Formats: sequence, C-alpha cells, structure tokens
Amino acid sequence: MLSGGKGTRLRPLTFTCAKQLIPVANKPILGYVLDQIKETGITNVGVITAPETQQNVKDYVQNGSEWGFNVAYIPQKPLGLAHAVKTAQPFLTEDSFVMCLGDNVTGQGIKGFVEKFQNQNLDALIILKEVDDPTRFGIAQLDNEGTIVRLVEKPKTPMGNLAIIGTYLFSSKVHQAIEHIKPSWRGELEITDAVQEMANRGFKVKAEILNSWWLDTGKKDDILSANAKILDEYVKRNVEGEVENSAIEGRVNIAQGAKVVNSTVRGPSVIGRNAVVKDSFIGPYTSVGDNSHVIQSHLEYSVLLENVVVENVERLEDSLVGKNAKVSRNKKASTIKLHIGDFSEVNV
Ligand code: DAU
Repeated sequence: MLSGGKGTRLRPLTFTCAKQLIPVANKPILGYVLDQIKETGITNVGVITAPETQQNVKDYVQNGSEWGFNVAYIPQKPLGLAHAVKTAQPFLTEDSFVMCLGDNVTGQGIKGFVEKFQNQNLDALIILKEVDDPTRFGIAQLDNEGTIVRLVEKPKTPMGNLAIIGTYLFSSKVHQAIEHIKPSWRGELEITDAVQEMANRGFKVKAEILNSWWLDTGKKDDILSANAKILDEYVKRNVEGEVENSAIEGRVNIAQGAKVVNSTVRGPSVIGRNAVVKDSFIGPYTSVGDNSHVIQSHLEYSVLLENVVVENVERLEDSLVGKNAKVSRNKKASTIKLHIGDFSEVNV
C-alpha cells in the first residue's frame, strides 16, 4: 500500500497532510483503498510511508485492526514506485502481492483482479483505463489480441490513451526486473519500466481494461471530482445531527453533533461531526468537514476539510479548503484582503 511520495501537486494541503489522507465525502481516500484491500481477504499489509507524512498515516491506519490487517510500516524516500517495491522486498519476501497506490480508487474494487491473477498464474497484471490526457500517466500500447506491446511512463508523444491505473499485481519475479532498470528522466525508478522489463524477459504479463470509474486524486480538480463520484456512489440519507427550520433534500448525511439551522442542504452531500450550517445553502456534491462552520453562505461542488469557517460568501464553487482555513466576505469595502499560505491559489 503506497502512502509515501511528495504530493507536490496538492500543495499547500500536503504541507500538513499526506495526500492519501485528504478526505473525500469526509473520509480519507486511503480509507477507501484499505476497504477494497479488505474485500480481497488479504490481511498482511505493508504500508509505504514518506518521512514527512509517516506519523499522519500511522495515526489513521494505526495497527490496521479496523480492517482486520496485520500492518507493517515501511519508510521510504520517494524515489519511484519500483523503488518502493525494492524497499519493501524484505517484507514481501518471495510472495506474490498487490500494490495499491493510496490515492487511486476504482468503482469495481480489486477482488476480481486478485482472482484472475491467481487463476491464470500470472507474473504481472496491470489494469488500464482510457484517459483524455495520456501525458499524465503510464501508458500501455496493446496489439489486437490485447497483448502488451510497449509501456511508457508519461509519454511526451503518446502512443495511445490507455493509462495504467494504480493497482498492480506481481509475482516475486518483479524483483528480478527491478534489479535491471535504471532511474527515468525524472530520477525515479519507474514501475512502468519494471513491467516492461518483465515483458521483455518473457514473464507472464497481462493487462486488463477497467470497466468502472477510476479516480487518481493527484490535483485539486481530481479531489473535487473524486468527492462528487464518491458522494454519488456511497452516500445514503442519514440525519443524525440537529435540523431546525431547514430543507434537507435527497441523499444527505448529517453526522452526529452537527447543526443545520435556517438552511437548505441538497444531496449528495455530507455535513461532518459538530459542523454548523446556518442561514446557508449547501449545494450538491459538497462535503463539509468535522467542526466546520458555514454561515450565511452559498456553497456548491466543494470540499471543506476540518475546522473551516466560511462566512458571508455569496457563492463558493469548485473549491477545496484546507483545515482551519477561514473564508469570509469583506462587506464594507470592495477590497480583497488575503492571508494565505505558500502555494495557495485564489481565483477572485
Ligand atoms: O495514478 C496512476 C499513475 O501512477 C500511473 O499511470 C503511472 O504510471 C505511475 O507512475 C503513477 O504516476 P504518478 O506520477 O501519478 O505517481 P505519484 O508520484 O503520484 O505516486 C503515486 C502514489 O504512490 C502516491 O500515493 C504516492 C506514492 N509514492 C510515490 C512515489 C514516487 C510512494 O509511496 N513512493 C514513491 O517513491
């Protein structure tokens, strides 16, 4: 389970939070991946962590008992996905394994892939999905029979649009391949190169096309679409908090201790524990984090992390707001006043 890396594309949130722990529908992305691992019946889980965010990840996963796992933490410098496998070799020993990226979720889980890998006695199984921007991913070229012809990491001139998603299944032969690959132009030991090397060596490597949705939460807009997708798929109407003089429309989850007063909340949306929504409209596809306050504001298609305050904002859309941040309207002047962290983005 890869939960290391640098998360540079999600700064400033990743200054204080591992990117795999950014919540969608008020639950860390990593949590959905761990749920999907649990469905396979796998119980020994090695969690790769980076030095800066290791504690964060440990605080969330703990000893894995929530999922019934035996968890081993494996610290790694973020030098590539194949480097992560190399670092984990003493943990993996000669066993076959699934490698999951902690920021990738699919609609169909991974159980079916584990079964296929085992039944067909494969050395590697990679999963592919068509994408609009192949330059952002590892790309696979297949022949008419679906056999892998070539794999290239983030090609400048793409030879197709089938991206390799973040679920990989390997036999111990992957370790031999990793011994023979060199770091790429971005200085990383690429798993894409390792799979290519396995194919070159005549190992049994197969690719399968994913039938469901796939989310790779690398950037802000990815988090917002992941939030929308997960809200759509998983949220059921459940009102545990207090509702006063308000309209709760459709699939809305209002957690314990939350208060919605004089407002409209339209699903699919979630309101976190002890959050307060007052004189406001919370539109579809919005997650309000625990202890956040939305007062006299209109919010749509957005994610607020914990302890956020949004006050007197006429319309906030397509926004991702980090922990303890405050967004308010300066009613008296037409001036914009900012106090924002490094690498923040403001669009006024
Ligand atoms: O999302 C799918 C893509 O993931 C594939 O199409 C690419 O072939 C693959 O290389 C990878 O590309 P990214 O550039 O998106 O990988 P990223 O650096 O975002 O890392 C993926 C996850 O693995 C992320 O949760 C961080 C973690 N990671 C990453 C590196 C480089 C580690 O734990 N250790 C590492 O050394």
